[in-house]
Amino acid sequence: MSWSPDSWRDFPIKQQPKYENIEELKKVEDELRGYPPLIFAGEARNLKADLAKAGRGEAFIIQGGDCAESFSSFNGDVIKNLFKLILQMSVVMTYSSGKPIIKIGRVAGQFAKPRSSDYEERDGVKLPSYRGDIINDIEFSEEARKPDPSRMLRAYYQSAATMNLLRAFSRGGLADLTQVHRWNLDFIKDHPLGKKYEELSDRIDKAMKFLAAAGINSRNAPQLRQTVVYTSHEALLLNYEEALTRIDSISGEWYNTSAHMLWIGDRTRELEGAHIEYFRGIRNPIGCKVGPSMSSDELLRLTDALNPDNEEGRLNLIVRMGADKISELFPPLLRALRDAGKNVVWTIDPMHGNVEKSPNGFKTRDFDNILSEVKQFMQIHEAEGTVAAGIHLEMTGEDVTECTGSTSCPITTDDLADRYHTQCDPRLNAKQALELSFMLGKKFD
Ligand code: PEP
Ligand code: CO
Repeated sequence: MSWSPDSWRDFPIKQQPKYENIEELKKVEDELRGYPPLIFAGEARNLKADLAKAGRGEAFIIQGGDCAESFSSFNGDVIKNLFKLILQMSVVMTYSSGKPIIKIGRVAGQFAKPRSSDYEERDGVKLPSYRGDIINDIEFSEEARKPDPSRMLRAYYQSAATMNLLRAFSRGGLADLTQVHRWNLDFIKDHPLGKKYEELSDRIDKAMKFLAAAGINSRNAPQLRQTVVYTSHEALLLNYEEALTRIDSISGEWYNTSAHMLWIGDRTRELEGAHIEYFRGIRNPIGCKVGPSMSSDELLRLTDALNPDNEEGRLNLIVRMGADKISELFPPLLRALRDAGKNVVWTIDPMHGNVEKSPNGFKTRDFDNILSEVKQFMQIHEAEGTVAAGIHLEMTGEDVTECTGSTSCPITTDDLADRYHTQCDPRLNAKQALELSFMLGKKFD
C-alpha cells in the first residue's frame, strides 16, 4: 500500500472545515510547505524511546495543556506558567515514584477542535460551529465563523514562538533543579498546597546541596540544569499537517515536523478514514484516543494499521471512558491487546469522558470524577499485570474556575462564572492539577 503525505485526500474524512476559497487554501498550503520545520526528527525519535521506557514502567508520562490554544490568550506568561506547572507536577511525581517523568505539552499547535455538531444555534440563528482558532473565530457571527485558510499561517507562527520559549526555558536555566522554589506559582505560594510544594522543594534543595558537596552540580551535570518538554497536538486539520510533513534527511523517512507527537481524536479514528491513512505513514510517536465506543476487535485492527511492526514507543493509546464506565469497558480491551502481545503505551485522559453541564449552564468536569478515573485506570493495570504509563490532562497554569471540586481548591458550581476562560473544554487550574499529582504521588509512597 503506497503512502504519501497527501494520500489521505482519497479517503473519507470527518470534522473538517469547508473552505470557500480553494485558491487561497492552496496558496497557504504552498507557503506552509516552504516554512521551516518546528521540530527535528531526531527529537521525535528521542520521544519514541522515552515513551517505550514509560510503556515498560521505567518512566511516567505527564501530557497536558489547553483543550484549545487561542490567538487571544497568546502571551509569554501563560506559556511560562504552564511550563512551571508541568515542572512542579514532575517534581512531585518523581519524588514519590522515583521514576523520570516524560513531559509533553498539549501546546504549540493544539488549535483544531472536533465538534459534536457542525452548527451552533443561538436565539434562532444557526451558524457553523467554532472549530478552533486555526480554522475560524469563536465570536458568534457569520463573518467570524467562516473558515479562513490564512489562520493556518498565524497558528504556525504562534506555535513557532511558543516552541521557542519552551526551548529557552528548558535549556536557559529556569528548569535547573536548584530553581525548584521558583516554579511555585504566585497565586499558589501562600496556599496550603503551595506550602506543601515548598516543603518538597526544601528537601530537593538539601539533596542538591549534598550533591554539590560531592562535586556534582548544575554546571558539570547538564541533566540537573536542563530538561526536555516535548510538544503534541491532535492532528485534525490534515491540510496543515500535510504541509509540515517532511522527509528526514538522516533516516529518509517521513516525519510530521509540526510537533514531536501527534494524536488522533476519538471522533476521527475510523479504520477506513483519512486520519488513519495519514498517521500510518509518519514516523513520529503517535497517540490515539480510545473512547467508550471502541471494541476489542476494532482496537486490534487499529493497532495493526498504526503500528504494523509492533514497535515499542510508537503507539500511545489514550483511554477516555469516563469514571462510571472505565471499570466495565477498559479491561476487555487491555486483555485483548496484552494477550495478542501488542506493544502499546497506555495512558489515561480522565477529562473527555467526564464532561457534564452544570445547572447554571457551564460545561464542566468534577475533580472527584477525574481522580476516580485515573485511580481506576491504575488499579485495572495492577490487576492485569500491565503498565499504566501516564496521564493526559487538560490543564492550565492559570487560576481559572472551570472544573468543580478538589479539596484544596473547592470550586463550586456558583464559582464557575468567576474565571471561566476556556475556548473549548474546562481545564484543571494549577492548584487542581498540582493536587492531582500529590494524590497520585501518594500511590507510590
Ligand atoms: C481533546 O483531547 O481535546 C479531544 C477532543 O478529545 P477526544 O478526541 O478524546 O474527544
Ligand atoms: Co478537550
